[in-house]
Amino acid sequence: MNITLGFDVYGTLLNTNGVVEALTGLVGKEAQVFAKTWRDKQLEYSFRRGLMRHYDSFAVCIRQSLDYTCSALRIPLDETQKAQLLKTYRALPPFEDAAAGLSLLQYGNFRMYAFSNGGSDAVERLLEHAGLLHFFLGVISVDDIRSFKPDPAVYAHFLRKTGATGNCAWLISGNPFDVIGAMSAGMSGAWVRRSPDAVFDPWGIEPTLTVHALSELAQQIPEAEKLKQTLS
Ligand code: 2OP
Repeated sequence: MNITLGFDVYGTLLNTNGVVEALTGLVGKEAQVFAKTWRDKQLEYSFRRGLMRHYDSFAVCIRQSLDYTCSALRIPLDETQKAQLLKTYRALPPFEDAAAGLSLLQYGNFRMYAFSNGGSDAVERLLEHAGLLHFFLGVISVDDIRSFKPDPAVYAHFLRKTGATGNCAWLISGNPFDVIGAMSAGMSGAWVRRSPDAVFDPWGIEPTLTVHALSELAQQIPEAEKLKQTLS
């Protein structure tokens, strides 16, 4: 059976902390807290826009959360500095294990897609820049249906677009809310826990698989699939 894999992008394939170096030049020792506030607020804005049915693109969430972060931390960056940060965000670096992990999967029986809150064009450019685009059969964006993860509709959209069914589709993500969202929508979920400090939300929904690096997936997904078949 062909297994379909949807890879989350920000925080799974690409390191959102890749902006810290540029931030250090602008805000000094506040760089880490700035990067975290900016990222957390981006997600909050996407959750709220999804709930309110008040869609605007993830690029807008990124821009508005940058403005928020400057105000909240009382760091008044000018428009040129903000443009510089947004440019860095459009060229985030891949995690070190990304290319190696994806190339191991390439030789397995997997259909691989990038699946993101970001718009298709933006995500294609990001992955091209990171040298990862060629691993994927396509990029699937929530933008097509004007909502955001973890709206169940976006995971249904992923399954529709890829022609997959939930029982043979996996979401691979470093973001626990995304893994829980996909599993609630009937997919299997692999949580990429790169740091031992990362915490999974205690909702009573455990990831089908937890890996420390993408390079573990090529071996562990087939094993988990075999176990699923034995139990069914
Ligand atoms: C993504 O969809 C949630 O940021 C994450 O790429």
